[in-house]
Amino acid sequence: MKVRLPVRQAILNRRTYEAPAEGRAGKVRLDFNENTSGCSPAVRRALARLTAKQLAMYPEYQKPAERMARYFRVCPEELLLTNGGDDALRVFFDTFVDPSTSILICEPTFPMYRYWAEIAGAQVCAVRYGANMEFPMEEVLKGLPKNPRVLFIANPNNPTGTLIREKELRRILEAATETVVVMDEAYSEFSDFSALPWIHKYPQLFVARTFSKVAGLAALRLGAVIGCADSLALVRRAMPPYPVNLAALIAAEAAASDPARMRAYVAEVKRLRAWFATELCGLGVKTYPSAGNFLLADFGPTGPALFRKLEGKGILLRDRSKDMGNGFVRITMGTSAEMQQLLKAIRKEWKPATRNGAAPKLD
Ligand SMILES: Cc1ncc(COP(=O)(O)O)c(C=O)c1O
Repeated sequence: MKVRLPVRQAILNRRTYEAPAEGRAGKVRLDFNENTSGCSPAVRRALARLTAKQLAMYPEYQKPAERMARYFRVCPEELLLTNGGDDALRVFFDTFVDPSTSILICEPTFPMYRYWAEIAGAQVCAVRYGANMEFPMEEVLKGLPKNPRVLFIANPNNPTGTLIREKELRRILEAATETVVVMDEAYSEFSDFSALPWIHKYPQLFVARTFSKVAGLAALRLGAVIGCADSLALVRRAMPPYPVNLAALIAAEAAASDPARMRAYVAEVKRLRAWFATELCGLGVKTYPSAGNFLLADFGPTGPALFRKLEGKGILLRDRSKDMGNGFVRITMGTSAEMQQLLKAIRKEWKPATRNGAAPKLD
């Protein structure tokens, strides 16, 4: 039978997403910004208590939403739970982005903004972080009068680690009168900054959060969108009835009831981030200030060969050579033992580039 499927043009225009890596279990996974020490033991205990009858019921959201709202220190009307942080970004396309309208992003950044935009058939206006990964403030301000539907800012940004603070955020929000501003705070816990207190003053501001990183629940997929109640009510209209599964809710409640575990992880990430940057600097590797649970480093032209060698030893890093330049890599802060293992392997395997026998130029 000859059939012509009426596929949307936006879908014909794009390729299927290919997972950047599989078969990662058991390796030193410093490539996806996961919490490699794992989630709180309280989460596993709570999941083990789930009954067969509970699993056969459609999930109820009122109580978990109240609990999560307390965790974020907002009212339940200001919070929407989603199927992971990725999904917390998709909802803005369903609510605000018509095909052929545009969004504004700052690259290099988290690829899901572009991903959802392509599916929505929207245009992407992209400005770029500076040579030292500074936030492109003036370019963003120049982009806003073109009225993009949504401005997405990962804060801190993945992969650069860049953090924007009050002064810059205020300038953006004062200028963005016809644009939704989404602060993607997947890594906010590692940065000591959040735009959450600003949602009451700015109805165009939304904050996207995730339990994948600090709470170590990436496998369960729980995210959240937070905004002022009236604005969030619009986003709710675009939501399916059961976007979040019960296991994710139970797990997040258990994780939230063990804040000491998250605090200890954050403290360890900050310690390792500073120590590892100093060690790399000692080896002549450039790093960029990071407010996330990762570091961006530039190993120069001999970087890609090093990353391949490390992969052969079961140490996975996120090679960004293709989009950022040869030798750029994003390194998740794993456990102390994992970071020691990585450093030892780098010391053994890395050969800095030389030009005419000279040491590479460092700045
Ligand atoms: C900036 C940023 N936002 C959102 C996410 C989404 O996280 P998840 O879908 O696991 O909640 C990530 C994950 O890496 C991220 O880096």
